[in-house]
Amino acid sequence: MPTITFANEKKEIQVPEGANLRKEALAAGVALYPGIHTVANCHGFGSCGTCRVLITKGMENTSPRGILEAARMAVSLAYIGNESTMRLACQTKVKGDITVTTCPPLNLFGESFFS
Ligand code: FES
Repeated sequence: MPTITFANEKKEIQVPEGANLRKEALAAGVALYPGIHTVANCHGFGSCGTCRVLITKGMENTSPRGILEAARMAVSLAYIGNESTMRLACQTKVKGDITVTTCPPLNLFGESFFS
C-alpha cells in the first residue's frame, strides 16, 4: 500500500493503490484548503484550483495530469515556478509513496518564476 506523507502536518497515512489524494487527505483530517475555501470549493470537480498541493517527493508515483487539470493550472498564478511539483489533489491518483505539502504559497518572486 502506498504511503502519503503530509509534510506540514507531519502525518503519514497508507492508502490503496489508485486512491484519490483529495479524498484520502480529507478522510485523514488534513486541512487541504486554505481559509474560506474549506467550504467554498468545487468538491473535487477540478474547476476551482483550491486543492493545489506540491508533491515534493514521488511525483512519478502519481497519475499523469489530465486535460482538465492542465487547463486549470494554465490559468493559475500559483502554478508559476511550481510546474514540476504542483498538482490538484482532487485530480491526482496515488500509485506509490509520495510526500505532499498542502496549501503552498505563491512563488511569484521565486528563482524559477521567469524560467
Ligand atoms: S477541489 Fe476544486 S479543483 Fe480540486
